Amino acid sequence: MHAVSARRPGPLRVLGIESSCDETAAAVVSADGVVHSDIIASQIAIHAPYGGIVPEVASRAHLGSITAVVEAALGALPDGLADVDAIAVTNGPGLVGALLVGVQFAKALAFSRGLPIVGVDHLVAHLLAVHLRRDAGALEERAREPAYPYIALLASGGHTALYEVRSGTEQVLLGQTRDDAAGEAFDKVAKLLGLGYPGGPRVDQLAAQGDARAVVLPRPNVGGRDSLEFSFSGLKTAVAQHVAKQGAPRDERALADLCASFQGVIVETLVRKSVLACRALDLPRLVLSGGVAANRGLRARAAEVCARERIGLFVPSLASCTDNAAMIAYAGAQRLASGARDDLTLTVYPRSPSVRRGRILDVRER
Ligand code: KG4
Ligand code: ZN
Repeated sequence: MHAVSARRPGPLRVLGIESSCDETAAAVVSADGVVHSDIIASQIAIHAPYGGIVPEVASRAHLGSITAVVEAALGALPDGLADVDAIAVTNGPGLVGALLVGVQFAKALAFSRGLPIVGVDHLVAHLLAVHLRRDAGALEERAREPAYPYIALLASGGHTALYEVRSGTEQVLLGQTRDDAAGEAFDKVAKLLGLGYPGGPRVDQLAAQGDARAVVLPRPNVGGRDSLEFSFSGLKTAVAQHVAKQGAPRDERALADLCASFQGVIVETLVRKSVLACRALDLPRLVLSGGVAANRGLRARAAEVCARERIGLFVPSLASCTDNAAMIAYAGAQRLASGARDDLTLTVYPRSPSVRRGRILDVRER
């Protein structure tokens, strides 16, 4: 166990490592959110032929690229690793074999350099990504940052949930999906329509040219109108049934209309429940996070509704929405600043054990 004391003046500087899914990433970020480097090696091309992520293939690809990715992230600092005060690594949730690569690498580095190490929950990191400052010193970026507490919608490939974010180390789960995540629904519908993997960005592109009223699809209503729970598997089935009955869209126009109709239902559901959460907790600040927050339809609709409802909307930059290690480093810095520490017994978890009876526990309480 090592004490954390900044080795040089200025805020704590943390090396973040992320390998929970199909991106090997490393970044160096200060506790104040300034991003010094942010490197990502994407495995999209490796998994694309399979139409989804193959866990064993992902682990091997992480192993092949992690050294170069970490070296590149450290290369941006004048003194490399000597400029880093601590290491933060995603230790869950995610693919176990994939997580192990990042965690073992981080532990070896921490051990060899005598650096403190903290595990970071990937979901918590998404919720805090809005605080990253990629354009050092830009006032505009500072203004885009919400004050605590705020409501955060996390919509990614593996998770869709609403949280009350009270601080960098305390988040409360308000509601989550009972089945598919929003990103998963995007990816599965895209696969059904032969649009390739990952489907979200492609559906987003096509939807922008289509008519969202063209195809009537059911609106998920799990738990009733006031519930903060989500469900997207029925919507995915409805698209499959539509295609089975009507046949695959005949031309680009019909394809765009179907994408717009499908995306429209997802966007409407995400925005409506997010606003509901803001009203329920009387919190007029909303943050969109996770890969689906990159969706242009969602960003536009959320902006429209939040303006009407007098809710401040905060959306991270595109690079901060999708998986990255900068958010891991930042979340790790917040844990370290609060006194949290892990040691070389740090292990991984596939699902969120931190979510217990609607509350996310701090790692120390586990
Ligand atoms: O947060 P993320 O990068 O990884 C996970 O932690 O899952 O999210 C990836 C998900 C994928 O399902 C992808 O299709 C979706 O985010 N996504 C999008 C867009 N960009 C990425 N979904 C809708 N529209 C987009 N523009
Ligand atoms: Zn993610």
